[in-house]
Amino acid sequence: MTRKGIILAGGSGTRLYPITLGLSKQLLPLYDKPMIYYPLSVLMLANIREIAVITTPEDQDQFIRTLGDGSQWGISLTYIVQPRPEGLAQAYLLAEDFLDGAPSAMVLGDNVFFGHGLPELLAEAGAEASGGTVFGYHVADPERYGVIDFDANERARAIVEKPAVPPSNYAVTGLYFLDGEAPDRARGIQPSARGELEITTLLEGYLADGALRVKRMGRGYAWLDTGTHGSLLDAANFVRTLQVRQGLQTGSPDEIAFSHGWIDKSALRDRAKLFTKNDYGAYLLSLAEG
Ligand code: TTP
Repeated sequence: MTRKGIILAGGSGTRLYPITLGLSKQLLPLYDKPMIYYPLSVLMLANIREIAVITTPEDQDQFIRTLGDGSQWGISLTYIVQPRPEGLAQAYLLAEDFLDGAPSAMVLGDNVFFGHGLPELLAEAGAEASGGTVFGYHVADPERYGVIDFDANERARAIVEKPAVPPSNYAVTGLYFLDGEAPDRARGIQPSARGELEITTLLEGYLADGALRVKRMGRGYAWLDTGTHGSLLDAANFVRTLQVRQGLQTGSPDEIAFSHGWIDKSALRDRAKLFTKNDYGAYLLSLAEG
């Protein structure tokens, strides 16, 4: 079955208060584009064209206004509500009908990935017929994340959620390739002490069955955090620095759709016309005319 995508874009965004008192974090600007464009681009780079966007009930309208039905990019977007932020693994229960037994790639709506070879890394994970694939990334502050415990042979033997004493510096990133069993498995897990269905618990189940591949995302990649005021600004500056220096976009669903042949020149030109007053529009126009 064809792999489907999920963008988990609910949550409460309390670390970004007061900004997120009235706005969803994942719609905030990351330099020149809404934050959700970046994780959406990752799924599109993985060749996924059927994607569910999970949001809070209050924010769903704004996501629909921002992203539409996906036809402008030759993809299909479905919107699902998460009534309360009850954990990342809950996404698989909410998206069960949408997935309809298909394998999935889920990305957190506030995660930004950048790096040479990303499409190949995604293609490899996407090609696995069963089990799951997650990525470990070296961070300075692992205690904030699900952390990978490696055995003497460098194989993952456990994943520990927000450990006081981290077993390694490798955090599990917010990108999860899981097989069609994920909803069933998610149904079997119990909420944690903080009342959430933890993705770590779901992944532990796969790991215990020998069905989880943990790949390292090396230092040549950027996995950026956008959850605090400082990290949001840093991520925006990172994107700006790259784009200004290279004259190329990162996190552009328009460019990816066009380069994959999912939209033609005239559709790209129509998109560019929406943004004639800025560099993003000029960039899309130059692609359409190139
Ligand atoms: P978190 O960073 O854990 O939480 P948050 O975004 O709600 O922010 P804060 O910690 O500042 O209160 O969430 C990671 C991502 O997952 C983020 O994009 C929000 C999303 N999310 C959901 O959509 N539903 C959930 O139940 C949870 C826990 C998170």
